[in-house]
Amino acid sequence: MAYKITKVKNIFVNLGKDSYHIIIDKGILNQVGTLISKVISPSKAVVITDKTVAQLYGNTVLNSLSECDFEVKLVSIEPGEDQKTITKAEELYEALFDHKMDRKSPIIALGGGVIGDLAGFVASTFMRGIPLVQIPTTLLAQVDSSIGGKVAVNHTRGKNMIGCFYQPKAVFIDTATLQTLQRAELIAGMVEVIKYGMIKDAVFFEYIEKHLSEILELDDVALENIIYNSCKIKAHVVELDEKEVGLRAILNYGHTIGHALEALTLYKKYRHGDAVAMGMIYASKIAMELKLAEEIVLKRQESLFRKLGLNLKDNELNPNDIVRVLYQDKKTVRGKLRLVLPTRIGEVIIADKTSDKVIQDVLSS
Ligand SMILES: NC(=O)c1ccc[n+]([C@@H]2O[C@H](COP(=O)([O-])OP(=O)(O)OC[C@H]3O[C@@H](n4cnc5c(N)ncnc54)[C@H](O)[C@@H]3O)[C@@H](O)[C@H]2O)c1
Ligand SMILES: [Zn+2]
Repeated sequence: MAYKITKVKNIFVNLGKDSYHIIIDKGILNQVGTLISKVISPSKAVVITDKTVAQLYGNTVLNSLSECDFEVKLVSIEPGEDQKTITKAEELYEALFDHKMDRKSPIIALGGGVIGDLAGFVASTFMRGIPLVQIPTTLLAQVDSSIGGKVAVNHTRGKNMIGCFYQPKAVFIDTATLQTLQRAELIAGMVEVIKYGMIKDAVFFEYIEKHLSEILELDDVALENIIYNSCKIKAHVVELDEKEVGLRAILNYGHTIGHALEALTLYKKYRHGDAVAMGMIYASKIAMELKLAEEIVLKRQESLFRKLGLNLKDNELNPNDIVRVLYQDKKTVRGKLRLVLPTRIGEVIIADKTSDKVIQDVLSS
């Protein structure tokens, strides 16, 4: 089935008084000043970014904001997950005080998910919350972390353990920024894109299958389409369940086992996307074992992941260890393991009665 080429690139996330727009456009970075001034009156502002992104896009964003009368300062930190700490947040509070930010002055998070989560956490806590604008520049941040309002820093006891829900005032996605992104980062984002097709939209899944080469060649229309459709699915799920009391858990498809693989290898062996792809494959095998899904569901995902050069299984970890870590997941409810399992392409269920034996058998196979 042909998938319609999207014309509308503006998604309204309806969360009552916390509603906001996601605007997707190639080259939008040049206009962020004008766009932000539509939701926040010109004032002081701090752009938080990392050094790689600052070098590539810092000046464009600064100029655009200055032209619209924002009194703006750019703070750039080292890139990397190890920056997502409470210590770094404290340094950023200092920068906000130095710039004399008040409760109406916005933080602009310019970068990948690390920057979005950290700058978002800082915005949510400084003076009990100041406005936040997300300008995500990795595919993962554009389709996932910048939408939905989860902000956090890591703790030595666990990733993303210190945080809250805090919605941005707007999200601006410039697809052109993906042209400078490393291939491995693009692939990591693609795993989440495929996840959206799997959990909610079989037609979108088919679009990805048919247009994978254009996507990987960074074709503008293909990129815009996958980002638009992914954001729409995530926004819709978040609208229905902002604080993750139920449905939002479907976004964790592939993530429960994926997180266990990441944690057991101390976040060193696998990138998040690699682990989630394997998690999706294991979840599909469990679904097959339970006669919830047919083999084709597994095969179509495997085929996409192979084309992306991803591994389909882990060969080293002990299945018993994986199951043990699964029970430590912060999403475990009253000691019950909740797995998101596919029933067909475009549909998943939340299962909380899967026996450890089935999981173990699949992990060992
Ligand atoms: N809040 C949420 O709902 C949510 C969801 C998923 C992931 N996350 C978080 O997101 C983080 C991962 O995000 P990520 O994958 O974007 O990683 P990242 O922020 O570390 O960015 C990856 C790398 O790409 C570089 N980069 C960013 N944009 C670039 C561009 N346009 N061109 C060239 N280089 C660029 C960065 O400097 C960095 O080195 C994790 O901390 C994870 O916990 C949060
Ligand atoms: Zn993820």
